[in-house]
Amino acid sequence: MKKQFIAGNWKMNLALEEAKCLARKLCDGLSGSDAVDVGVFPSFVYLKDICDIFRGSSVFVGAQNLSMEKSGAFTGEVSGEMLRGIGCTHVIIGHSERRTIYQETDSIINSKIKAALLNDLSPILCVGERQEERDAGKTCEVVEGQLSVGLETLTSEQVKGLTIAYEPIWAIGTGKTATPDQANEVHAFIRKAIRNKYDNGTAQSIRIQYGGSVNSKNAKELLSQLEIDGALVGGASLNAGSFLDIVSDAVRVL
Ligand code: PGA
Repeated sequence: MKKQFIAGNWKMNLALEEAKCLARKLCDGLSGSDAVDVGVFPSFVYLKDICDIFRGSSVFVGAQNLSMEKSGAFTGEVSGEMLRGIGCTHVIIGHSERRTIYQETDSIINSKIKAALLNDLSPILCVGERQEERDAGKTCEVVEGQLSVGLETLTSEQVKGLTIAYEPIWAIGTGKTATPDQANEVHAFIRKAIRNKYDNGTAQSIRIQYGGSVNSKNAKELLSQLEIDGALVGGASLNAGSFLDIVSDAVRVL
């Protein structure tokens, strides 16, 4: 049985004091419990403060993006080495907002995964289809394409350290959630695709999170699905109470 992994993607939200206050509440609420892995992903500019708050706890702190470059003349970018240097352990890569608003392609995402791994950062690779693609019956095809280019030339050892977040784009920030069956079906497909590309051990060691309008009301049912190993939570992670409730639901399905 894999440990569930609940991650909070704070996106471009919260003032500094609000972010610190949320982190302190989570730190208190989670102290002493490590039945579930928990991570928070604040804005770049808050990472150092939030890392300091969680230092010594079991909570992971990660970034929402990173540069695929090592260093140099890349104005506005943040490297993996910089993130590691301030205490980050994880990074979200290929979130649908990065793909759609900032035109990140699967091959850019592949380079970012390599940059993260080079710096000992554990990537959460996001994949997922648009509503039109689901309606056209192309969900698996789309996800398979994202995985195939996204993971190009990565070894099974590298892939074993990865988390994949299945986030149907139509469910992100919309209040529309995939049904537990819909999510479980795509998760099983993702695991099969990893098994085909690598081997069964690799497929079993990867954690696959569901993301898209997860909240304290729907988390328990989603997390109790066989193929769902955690959640990537946006909106509901901005409130300490609802995020802690989701973490408790993950503990309950163990
Ligand atoms: P949401 O966002 O929970 O607000 O739908 C999820 C995500 O974008 O990771």
